[in-house]
This record gives sequence, structure tokens and C-alpha cells, in this order.
Amino acid sequence: MSFPDGFLWGTSTSAHQVEGGNVYNDSWLVEHLPSSPYAEVSGDACDHYHRYDADIALVAALGLGAYRCSLEWSRIEPEEGEFSTAALDHYRRVLDSCHAHGVTPMLTFHHFTSPRWIAMGGGWESARTADRFARFCERSMRHLGDLVPYACTLNEPNLGRLLHDVLGIPEPPPATQDRIVLFQNARSPRAAEVMRAAHLRAVDAIKGVRAETRVGLAVVMTAWEAEPGGEETMARLRGATEDEFLEGLAGDFIGVQTYTGMRVGPGGPIDPGPDAERTQMGYLFQPEALGHTIRRAAEVTGLPIFVTENGLGTDDDARRCEFISRALRSVEECLRDGLDVRGYFYWSLFDNFEWALGYRPTFGLVAVDRATQERTPKPSAQHLGAIARANGLG
Ligand code: FCB
Repeated sequence: MSFPDGFLWGTSTSAHQVEGGNVYNDSWLVEHLPSSPYAEVSGDACDHYHRYDADIALVAALGLGAYRCSLEWSRIEPEEGEFSTAALDHYRRVLDSCHAHGVTPMLTFHHFTSPRWIAMGGGWESARTADRFARFCERSMRHLGDLVPYACTLNEPNLGRLLHDVLGIPEPPPATQDRIVLFQNARSPRAAEVMRAAHLRAVDAIKGVRAETRVGLAVVMTAWEAEPGGEETMARLRGATEDEFLEGLAGDFIGVQTYTGMRVGPGGPIDPGPDAERTQMGYLFQPEALGHTIRRAAEVTGLPIFVTENGLGTDDDARRCEFISRALRSVEECLRDGLDVRGYFYWSLFDNFEWALGYRPTFGLVAVDRATQERTPKPSAQHLGAIARANGLG
């Protein structure tokens, strides 16, 4: 069994997690507060801002034909309405580099970080943010659109719900007196409404500049399973964290992002006990969760699917190889059942800045020595590359 012709084999990053020096965004601001919930600051990250060309050459050399990366809005529009042509030119060079190396880019317009002026102006709970985001998408597309075959509008608008309402992770303390809520922590009904509007307007803005660009939304999805008697609770949790964001979704595809699964009893999520294998994030090691979520995404949206993120934090790279193989077997089964899955992007290319947890979790196919910025591909990078070259698991 092989994968369909043209299946995109790739890997993902996001600007703030790899570029370094994103001093104009809200994450940098929060990282540096005395009350910061971040384990460490992002700093130079992987210096991808300067090293993108060699990094994209590496993606190609590994045998991967696609790369999902994001624009850093705060570089492009550091103050409201002040667009930086120099920053847009930078991202043109990044996209040019992808095409020159035979790597298909998928461009995410918002991956968690927002310019400080957005955060200070009500952030993702302000209706104006949807319009401002659409304007940013439109301006960026006018500069870059001819190089963008695939676009994701927002990354994981549903993460705040999952983290705080289901996993019970307390919301980090307000960053300032002005109460900044980072995108990934936003979970109010109002924020969900603003994000839904932002996605819709962004789809229109992007396709208004270049109709051929395929546009999607990237959503974090869990493989939910109900224990007997837990069906209703499971449906309620899944409804609040996923269905609400998936139903009636505009766009050309849905980006499925899956890391694990969860069993639910009548009283809520069930702890699988101390013997269950867990990743560095504390998630259950459950590669087959991917097939499960692909089926669910297809059922709810009816849209073609890209796996825009899938992976694990581990310091045991053999477990990463195993995870990738088993996750891809579950994708293969979906394809065999006729589901329209068009690509797989492993998260992440690099060991990078894992938000509040800093650099401790290692999700990368490629290790980075942050003192020298030396890149060292792990065996899992060769493993995924070989699958990609063969267009199948063999
Ligand atoms: C996802 C995020 C991504 C990364 C992975 C581990 O929720 O989209 O930025 O942090 O988790």
C-alpha cells in the first residue's frame, strides 16, 4: 500500500518557536515579565530568521517535499497600520527558498503570537482583531501570494478550551494590569466567536488576492474514547473543544493536529495510571490517535485533510521512529477506507521553543545546539525522509 501521488510529506515550524528575536510580539512581552509563567525566554531560538535557506535545504536533503512555517505578524505590522516591506521581503525570500529547493510551502498566517498592539487592544476577545487580522492577511498575500500554494489562517483556535476547560491546566496569571490573554489561552465564547470570524475573513482576504491558494484552518484534535457510561460526557467535551470549531467550517481543507488520545468516563477524563507510557509533555504515547482524529475531522467537516502537525516530545529517538511509523499506518488505513488525506507534516523540524515549557521538550527531527546553532538530524529524520522518498511505509 502506498500513498497517493502528490501526497505532501513535510515538517512544521512556527515563527516564534524558531526565528528568534521576535521582540514586538505578545509572547516576548510575557516571557520577560517578573511574573512570567514561562520556564525561560525564547531569545535567539533556532536563529531560523537568518538560517532559513540552509534549513530549507536540509528539509529537501532529508527527502521531505513540503514545509509548513508561519509569518510573524509583529514583524510585518509592528505598529497598527505600519507595514514593513523589509519584513515582507524577508518572507518572500523564505518562500523563494522553498521553491528553489523543490519544497512546497504551506504558510500559516497566525501561529499563537500577535503584535503587542493587538494584545494591548483587547487581543482575541476584541471583534476588531478579526478585521485587523484579515487586513494583515490581505497585505501579506499581495506581497507573497504568487508563492503561496497552501495557507493556514489560524493555528489551533481551540487549544485554550482544551488546556483550561478539559485538562484543567490553570490559566497563567494575567501578564499585566491591562490583562493580556495570549491566543493559546483564550477560551471564552467571545474569543471563539472572534476567531471564527477571523478565519472566515482571512479565507476571503487570501482568496480575494489569489483564488488558487488552498486555505484551511489548523485545529488540535484528540482521539476521544468513551468508557461505558461516559458517552455523554465525552460528547460534551468533544463538542466544546472541537465540534464548535469544525462545524460549518469555511475553506478548502482542514488541518488536523494530533498528539494523543483521551478516555472519558461519566465524571470526565480518566487517568490511565502510572504504568502508561507518556511523552515529555505528559501525553499518552498513542500514535494511532491520528487515524481516529482524521476520521472524525472528515465526518464533521466533509473537507479534504492535511495532517498539519503530529509528533511527540521525547529524548528517545527510537520511540519517535516508532511513533511516526504507527501514526502513518493509521493514515494509510484512512486512505484505504477512501478518506481524502493529502499530506503529513511532522511537528517539528527542530527541537525548538515549546512555549511556556521553554526548550526542555524535544519534538524535533533535528537537534539544535543553541550555543553554536549547529543542526544535527536524528535517525527519525532519516526514517521519515525514507518513507517520504518511497511514498509509503513499505
Ligand atoms: C501544538 C502547537 C505547536 C507546538 C506543538 C507541540 O499545540 O501548535 O506550536 O507547540 O503543539
